[in-house]
Amino acid sequence: MSLDPAARALVRSDCYIDGAWVASAARFAVTDPATDLVLAEVPDLDAAAVERAIAAATAAFPAWRARSAYDRAAVLAGMAARMRQEKDGLAALITAENGKPLAEAAGEVAYAASFLEWFAGEAVRVYGETVPASSVGQRIEVQRAPVGPCALITPWNFPAAMLTRKLGPALAVGCTVVCKPAEATPLTTLALAGFAHDLGVPPGVINVVTGDGARIGGQLVGSLAMRKVSFTGSTAVGRSIARVCAETTRRVSLELGGNAPFVVLDDADLDRALAGALVAKFRNAGQSCVAANRFIVQRPVAQAFTDRLAAAAAALVVGDGRAPGVSIGPLVDRRAVAKVRRLVEDALARGARLVTGTLPADDARWIGPIVLAEITGEMAVWREEIFGPVVAIRACDGDDEAIALANDTDAGLVAYVFGRDPGRLRRVTAALEVGMVGVNEGLVSTAQAPFGGIKASGLGREGSHHGLEDYTDLKYVMERVAW
Ligand code: SIN
Repeated sequence: MSLDPAARALVRSDCYIDGAWVASAARFAVTDPATDLVLAEVPDLDAAAVERAIAAATAAFPAWRARSAYDRAAVLAGMAARMRQEKDGLAALITAENGKPLAEAAGEVAYAASFLEWFAGEAVRVYGETVPASSVGQRIEVQRAPVGPCALITPWNFPAAMLTRKLGPALAVGCTVVCKPAEATPLTTLALAGFAHDLGVPPGVINVVTGDGARIGGQLVGSLAMRKVSFTGSTAVGRSIARVCAETTRRVSLELGGNAPFVVLDDADLDRALAGALVAKFRNAGQSCVAANRFIVQRPVAQAFTDRLAAAAAALVVGDGRAPGVSIGPLVDRRAVAKVRRLVEDALARGARLVTGTLPADDARWIGPIVLAEITGEMAVWREEIFGPVVAIRACDGDDEAIALANDTDAGLVAYVFGRDPGRLRRVTAALEVGMVGVNEGLVSTAQAPFGGIKASGLGREGSHHGLEDYTDLKYVMERVAW
C-alpha cells in the first residue's frame, strides 16, 4: 500500500535547525516495515550540522526562558491542537513508519497530544516557595529555573508520544531542545517540527537532527552545551549516556527497558485479567517497555487463564496495519523478528510448552501471537524483554511466590496484578519492586501520572507534575529585605 495522501502532506525530508529546513548530501531511507517501500530519504547529518543545532538551541534559550509561562503554554496548546486537527494524517504516518495498526496509531496521536495539553496546563503552575528565614529582615525564596538546552533522544516504538512526553515539560519550563528521533521513525518528529514552524515557534527553540543514532546521539550527549539529556531506549545505551553525563555533572533522565510481571491471583476475575492481558501484551505487537513480559499465574486459575488467553490471542488478526481489522502489525524490522524467534526457540528447547502460535520464517516481517506455558527462570524469555507478541506463562503457588517471581529481574518499570480481595492486592502491590503498578488494569500510561521505573529501568519520571522536575533546577535566593 502506498502512503496515504494526508500522511504524504506531512512528510518533511529535511532536518529542522534554527527555524530552517536543512538538507544534507548524505541521506538514509526510511522504510515502511509492512512493505519495505521507501517512504522518504532524510539527512544523515554531519557533525558540523549537529553542532549548528546545538548552537541554535543555546542561542535561543535566554529569550525562550524569558517569555511568560502563558506564552509558552500557548505554544504547547497550539501544537496539540494542530496534532488533533491532523490526526488522520499523523496516524497514517505513524503506521507507515512504525507498522502499528491505524487505530493504535490514532490512539498514539491522542496520547501524544495529551502530553502537550497537560504541560500547557502545568507551564503556568511552576511554583516556587518562600521559606521562613532564621533572622528578621531576611527572605528565602526558592525558584525553579530551566536547566537549559536539552537533548531529547527518542525511540521508534511510540514516535509521537515519546517525543511529546519530553518536549512538553522542556518547553513548558523554558528549556530549548535538540531532538534526535530513532532512524526507523524520524518522519513523525519532523512532522511535529513542521507544526512548530507553522505556529511561529522562535528559531532554535526546537531543533530536529536525524542520522546515525550512535554518532549523533554520542555528539549530543557529549556536548557540554546540552545541560540535560532525556533518553528512552535500551538499558545498555541508557547506562552509557548516564556515564557521560555523570562525568560532566549534567542532568539525565532515562526511561529504559522493562520486564513486566503480569500476576494473576487465584481470586481474579478472569474476564478482566484477559482484557488486561490483551492490551498489556499485544499493544504495538508487544513492542513496548511496559508490555507484559512474564505472566505469573496462580495454579488454581493457571489452566483456565492460559486456555482463554490462547484462544483470544489466536483470534487476533496479523497483517498490514492499514488493513481493516488488523490488530498486530509487522515488527519494526527483521532483526526484531529474529530476536523474538531466538527467545521462543530457546524456551522450547528448554522445555516450554507451545500452547498456540507458530514461529515465522527466517525472513519474515511479521510474527503472530505465540503463547508458551511451563516457563522457567533459566529461559531467555524470562530474563530478557521480549518486545514481540509472545506470552510466557509460569504457574506459581501462593502470594509470596508470586511476589518473589515478579521481583526476579533487574528491571523495575511496571507490574500488573489481577485479583479481587483489596487487602491482598494492596499487600502484593506494596511488595512489587517497580515504578508503576496496574491493579486490575492493563494500561497505566497517561499524561497525568508519573511514568518511570526503578532498578535498571531508569532514572526520573515523565508525565504528571513530577515530569517538570527533571527540567528545572532549584535556585535559592537569600535576600536581605531590611537592615
Ligand atoms: C514505552 O514503551 O517506552 C512507553 C509506552 C507508553 O508510554 O505506554
